[in-house]
Amino acid sequence: MAATQPATSSATTGDGSPGHRFTFGLWTVGNPGRDPFGGPTRAEVDPVASVHKLAELGAWGVSLHDDDLIPIGTDDAEKERIVARFKGALDETGLGVGMATTNLFGHPAFKDGAFTSNDRGVRRAAIGKAMRFIDVAAQLGAEVYVFWGGREGTEVGVAKDPRDALERYREAINVLSQYVVDQGYDLRFAMEPKPNEPRGDIFLPTVGHALHFIETLDRPEMVGVNPEFAHETMAGLSFHHAIGHALWADKLFHIDLNSQRIGRYDQDFRFGAEDLKETFLLVRALQNGGYAGPLAFDAHAYRNENAEGVWDFARGCMATYSLLAERARHFDSLPEVQEALAAASTPELALASVDGDDPAALKAEAEWSNLDALAERGYFNERLDQLLVEVLLGVR
Ligand code: GCO
Ligand code: MN
Ligand code: MN
Repeated sequence: MAATQPATSSATTGDGSPGHRFTFGLWTVGNPGRDPFGGPTRAEVDPVASVHKLAELGAWGVSLHDDDLIPIGTDDAEKERIVARFKGALDETGLGVGMATTNLFGHPAFKDGAFTSNDRGVRRAAIGKAMRFIDVAAQLGAEVYVFWGGREGTEVGVAKDPRDALERYREAINVLSQYVVDQGYDLRFAMEPKPNEPRGDIFLPTVGHALHFIETLDRPEMVGVNPEFAHETMAGLSFHHAIGHALWADKLFHIDLNSQRIGRYDQDFRFGAEDLKETFLLVRALQNGGYAGPLAFDAHAYRNENAEGVWDFARGCMATYSLLAERARHFDSLPEVQEALAAASTPELALASVDGDDPAALKAEAEWSNLDALAERGYFNERLDQLLVEVLLGVR
C-alpha cells in the first residue's frame, strides 16, 4: 500500500499522485491562530511567501479573499502594485488560482448581512465590493468565484422575512452574473452553504438549500456549489451524501476540504484529522464521480503550532487526500469487495425500477405474499463495511 511512502513524500513530490489540484486559501496557511478567546499565536504570513512555500510543497494553487491580498483601506495605486507583485509570484511559481471570493463578513458595515442586510445601502456596497474583486479574479485567471454568506442570516428571526432575504440574495447573484457576462470574463460562481457561525442561523444552510436556490437564478448554468466538509458535518449531515447530490445535479464547481466533529464549533481541522471513514467515502465519491476541479483546503493548523507546524498541516492535508485516493482505488479493485458489492445488490441500484411495465404488474408485485418473499433476503452490509474498515486499516 502507498502508506509505505515516507510521511514527508508530499514535501518533495507534492501530493504524490499527479492529477490532484490541491489549493490552499491564503487565509488558511496565513491563519495566525486567533480565536474568540485569544489573540494570534503566530505571525501573519505575506501572501507572496505563502505562494512560494506552497509551490515548494507541491500544491497546485491558491485561493483568496479580496482582503487577504488587498488590506481594507488600500488606495487604487497601491492595490495595483500589490496585485502585480502577487501575479508575479504566481507566474514565477506556476501556481494557479482555484477560486477567488469577497470578504463580505469582516467589515462592521456587514454586521447585519451583506447581500441580505436590511439596509439597502449596505446591500449595494456589498454588490460593488464583489464587482471590484471579480475584476481582479479575472485578471488572476481564477476559475471559480465563491459566495460564502457568513453574515447572511439572523439571530433575531423576526427581524428579517426569509422570503425577502432570499429574493435579495437572488438579486445580487443575478446582478453579478450579468456583470461577469457583460465584462466577458470566463468565471463561474459557486455558492458555499453553512448552517450557522458567525450568524445564529445562516440563509442557504446546506448544499440542498443552495442547489434549489441556484435553480431560481437568471443564469443557473453559471452557478454551482462549493460544499465544505465542516459545514455539512456541523449540521449533522453526511458530507459524502451532499457531494453525491451535487455531482448528481452536475453542480460541484468547487469543494472546501477540512475536518470537523458533529456538535462542535466550526473547527476547520486538517483534512482527515477526524472521521477517516467519512473522509474515505468522500474521496472515493470525488474520484468515482470524475470531479476534476480544485481540491481546496479550507482549514488551519492547530492554535498551539508555530510557523513550522503550519507547513506540517499543509503537507498532512495533501498526503492524507492522496493516501485515501489510493485506498479508494485499491478498495474498488479487490475481488472480495466486488463480490460483497454484488451481494449487497449495489450495482442493481443503477438499474431503472420500471421498464414500461403495465401498472397492473406493479400492483401485483405489491401483494403481501410477494413482500414477505422480498423480506427474506439479507443485504450483507456487515461484510461490506468490515471490508472497508480493513482496507482503511491497511490489512487488505
Ligand atoms: C468559514 C468559511 C470560509 C469561506 C471563505 C471563502 O467557515 O469561515 O468556510 O472560510 O470558505 O470565506 O468563501
Ligand atoms: Mn468553513
Ligand atoms: Mn469554506
